[in-house]
Amino acid sequence: MANEEENVKRKLAKLFEVALKVTVPSVADVEPLVAACTGKFGDYQCNNAMGLWSKIKGKETEFKGPPAVGQAIMRNLPQSDIIESCSVAGPGFVNVKLSRNWMAQSIQRMLIDGIDTWAPRLPVRRAVVDFSSPNIAKEMHVGHLRSTIIGDTIARMLEFSCVEVLRRNHVGDWGTQFGMLIEFLFEKFSNWEDVNEAAIGDLQEFYKESKKRFDSDPDFKERAQKAVVRLQGGEQKYRKAWTQICEISRNEFNRVYQRLGVQLEEKGESFYNPYIPAVLKELTSKNLVEDSQGARVIFLEGFNIPLIVVKSDGGYNYASTDLAAIWYRLNEEKAEWMIYVTDVGQQQHFDMVFKAAKRAGWLSTDDNAYPKASHVGFGLVLGDDKKRFRTRSSEVVRLADLLDEAKSRCKTTLIERGKGDEWTEEELEQTAEAIGYGAVKYADLKNNRLTNYTFSFDQMLNDKGNTAVYLLYAHARICSIIRKSGKDIEELKSMGAIVLDHADERALGLHLLQFSEVVEEACTNLLPNVLCEYLYNLSEFFTTFYSNCQVVGSAEETSRLLLCEATATVMRKCFYLLGITPVYKI
Ligand code: ARG
Repeated sequence: MANEEENVKRKLAKLFEVALKVTVPSVADVEPLVAACTGKFGDYQCNNAMGLWSKIKGKETEFKGPPAVGQAIMRNLPQSDIIESCSVAGPGFVNVKLSRNWMAQSIQRMLIDGIDTWAPRLPVRRAVVDFSSPNIAKEMHVGHLRSTIIGDTIARMLEFSCVEVLRRNHVGDWGTQFGMLIEFLFEKFSNWEDVNEAAIGDLQEFYKESKKRFDSDPDFKERAQKAVVRLQGGEQKYRKAWTQICEISRNEFNRVYQRLGVQLEEKGESFYNPYIPAVLKELTSKNLVEDSQGARVIFLEGFNIPLIVVKSDGGYNYASTDLAAIWYRLNEEKAEWMIYVTDVGQQQHFDMVFKAAKRAGWLSTDDNAYPKASHVGFGLVLGDDKKRFRTRSSEVVRLADLLDEAKSRCKTTLIERGKGDEWTEEELEQTAEAIGYGAVKYADLKNNRLTNYTFSFDQMLNDKGNTAVYLLYAHARICSIIRKSGKDIEELKSMGAIVLDHADERALGLHLLQFSEVVEEACTNLLPNVLCEYLYNLSEFFTTFYSNCQVVGSAEETSRLLLCEATATVMRKCFYLLGITPVYKI
């Protein structure tokens, strides 16, 4: 039963839309500016009065200034059971206080009908999220970890909002490095056709060794360069070797995705290769492509350099592949929104590719309209020394090692807390994994993605402060309050009633009700940290409520247990959207 309800903000916006029309009929289509606020006069505010005043000032009008406009907007607000009272403040801000009864009933209805009734609505049916996208034969590094975590959360939030999401792994499986890899495979293994992961061992080492050969032996280099041509010409032996190398890499990537609980469908660079010629032909017929120093390029306004789409040796590149991918996603996959998650270093590449696609008429030139493409950039992961995150021997940090360490540290802490005796080995393992992986994900997601962040196990595994550990414990504690009450919570949902009389109950209730609009904002602006902030604040509101309102044994026990349950339900949905497995006992 998804998407039955509008969120609070949109409900209010609809009421204000009516009021604005009645107040100033001469100004058409004023968009209601409604925002949640934290002041003591209201829960939401409508900020249209000043803007409207500037439009009618000097003309024939009954109003004397913005406050009078605000007063009139308030008077003209239609009757509604969601509003308890209104007031006008300062230069015409209309403050709205929501009705406690309505708030309580809405929360109760969510408990009965399920959290999916609070799913946001987005004006998109199908989206591509292009994320993770590591390169074959190279190790997945922390940059790819960021892309994987951020991309997965964006995909989850969109899916929750009823958007069909195509989760695309645009792996780097094409390009000149394959000549070198294939030639090295032939050289190292006479039985190369039977070579599997175990024999090759570390693919990253294999890559390094082959690169060394390439750089030091001109003969090898020449063979490698020829191998690329033969591979791209479709010669069977070369295709086979290529497939084999990709397969070994793929298995390695999949193990990481499995550990992280991330779903992805691979459509690598090679997939779009056959589409490139026709796509370039279309762009050429639209007069976008021209010759420049032997290459084929697209000049774009606002950029000093052109976008190269055919290199001077006649080969295609990263940009031509991405243009073909946009074409394919729009025309074959019918996606309306294409979202690319990579480090900010690739921003210019995407700006240029998107601009070319706009000029071709593929994407809307209005950034608020569809079809559209968005680049979700993110900053670097730094080590304690505030430099790019490396191991002590200055190697790229391996993802698998990071996850292992997070888990083992959590397990140690749990054993120190006596859980080794209390729990089964399986419980111990699962909880350590949930907390450890959750901590790694949350530490990444809670920052504004554009900023660099410092990777620190000590910080992310702290059970105090804004960490997954703290939040998972908070959730487990709420679950234990409900368990220890001895009440059947399912029965309470339909028999009991929520009341929000205490100020801290009301504040918690209001925050719960804002879940949907926060997810909507996080989706629209592609900012997972907005959801993290919401989740952290939720646990803070809960703590205040729980310290000031006795739950078990009080006269309000039923209502308060239901509030506990609603909090736990919303927390769990947040965890789900962030790709974190909840913990129920601690
Ligand atoms: N493989 C690239 C990298 O590791 C990321 C690909 C991003 N997606 C795309 N459509 N270009 O940097």
